[in-house]
Amino acid sequence: LRERAQEGAPMPAVVLVGAQWGDEGKGKATDLLGSRVDYVVKFNGGNNAGYTVVIEQPDGGSEKYALHLLPSGILTPTCTPVIGNGVVVDLEVLFHEIDGLDARGVDTSKLVVSANAHVIAPYNRVLDKVTERFLGARKIGTTGRGIGPTYADKMSRTGIRVQDLFDRHILEQKVEAALRIKNQVLAKIYNRRAIAVDEVVEELLSYADRLRPMVGDTSLLLQQALDRGDTVLLEAGQATLLDVDFGTYPFVTSSNATAGGACTGSGIPPTRVERVIAILKAYTTRVGEGPFPTELFDADGEFLRKVGAEYGTTTGRPRRCGWLDTVIGRYATRINGVTDFVVTKLDVLTGLERVPICVAYEIDGVRHDEMPVNQSDFHHARPIYEELPGWWEDITECRTFEELPANARAYLLRVEELIGARVSAIGVGPGRDAIIVRHDLLGAD
Ligand code: GDP
Ligand code: IMO
Ligand code: MG
Repeated sequence: LRERAQEGAPMPAVVLVGAQWGDEGKGKATDLLGSRVDYVVKFNGGNNAGYTVVIEQPDGGSEKYALHLLPSGILTPTCTPVIGNGVVVDLEVLFHEIDGLDARGVDTSKLVVSANAHVIAPYNRVLDKVTERFLGARKIGTTGRGIGPTYADKMSRTGIRVQDLFDRHILEQKVEAALRIKNQVLAKIYNRRAIAVDEVVEELLSYADRLRPMVGDTSLLLQQALDRGDTVLLEAGQATLLDVDFGTYPFVTSSNATAGGACTGSGIPPTRVERVIAILKAYTTRVGEGPFPTELFDADGEFLRKVGAEYGTTTGRPRRCGWLDTVIGRYATRINGVTDFVVTKLDVLTGLERVPICVAYEIDGVRHDEMPVNQSDFHHARPIYEELPGWWEDITECRTFEELPANARAYLLRVEELIGARVSAIGVGPGRDAIIVRHDLLGAD
């Protein structure tokens, strides 16, 4: 890509998405690319995301960063982190994260926030929690961060945008309009106290001065960057099966976490996107409610949870665990137009006698090789497994594909065949360097 830029062709935008239900290791993959890209853009979601980046230190120790809202590019000094228009921003969390990183010596001064991003108002945090409680057994299992209600406001045209914070009069009008209905709902349906307009306005305004210098027209900024030949990495929060259109609705998040969302959430046109990298964990996890065909309720599930340290970064909930599902992998390839996969956490599968891969579903006695379009079918899909022989060797120090045990290589080649796109990199441990690169993720081939 760099060569292309030198030849005068504008460098394209690169999209990075999760292929499953989140927590595939997107943060680590973005961090890996950080030093080679000029901008990292978060284009959807908010602080429902949680990603952990582990950076080895020269003294042999390691630094661990757990982020929720800031793009992981913030950990790379040369790269400009951007919060795009498609994101919903909790300002308290934003500044808490910035302060936390500043205290650890990370330079956060380059952050740019879209003037069109929506703000998570305090009443939407309350509404997220009370609606979940109200749903009882039918709850979604949200992160309780106010994500769904804030996106609902955006679509209902009653949302508060970042730019509204710089005009007290407008802000008061908008909060007043939003609360006129929400207070009725809170008091009459949920038996909660009404929320005062002033309280909300003052809380939001308390962040305005600090926010102002970070705010800009991020679509214009990114377009100009692309015109100059800079590389822009668009990083998804959540993942394909949590996407509001293509996920396991209604057990999804409220934004477009697939590749298409990268354009609408950043203001970069589709013609600029030439590469889509999807992150696929070597097994499957899910947090919250909803169908999950390969979920394990036995010792194998416990093994994956324990060895993979599968506890939510955001809510601390134990993640539901199961075998790799390549029906989902194929679906992710198709929906996102994946050019390259990064298979993460292969090291977690070490020590298994046999490694099952779900290749298709059986639904009411019929084999399905593709994701069923009917949600009820997916709810009772039974996985059809193919079992591959496992490996016992420690792979955490492997840095080339050839160094991997033959059975691990065979496993990856079979996965590649089943998901229909190449596996360009393989994660073999949590650290920044614990990765095998087969094809340069930003390279021209
Ligand atoms: P994200 O939400 O997609 O960014 O992923 P999370 O950070 O929530 O979850 C992935 C977890 O796996 C993090 O704790 C990472 O440090 C860890 N991780 C990422 N890649 C690997 C890998 O290849 N091997 C192992 N063992 N851990 C990994
Ligand atoms: P990252 O970026 C895993 C899940 C929640 C819940 C559903 C809706 O770390 O991969 P929401 O609060 O978004 O309305 O909750 O989506 N969820 C995630 N699960 N990883 C995430 O983000 C998630 N973000 C939301 O658990 O089931
Ligand atoms: Mg996560």
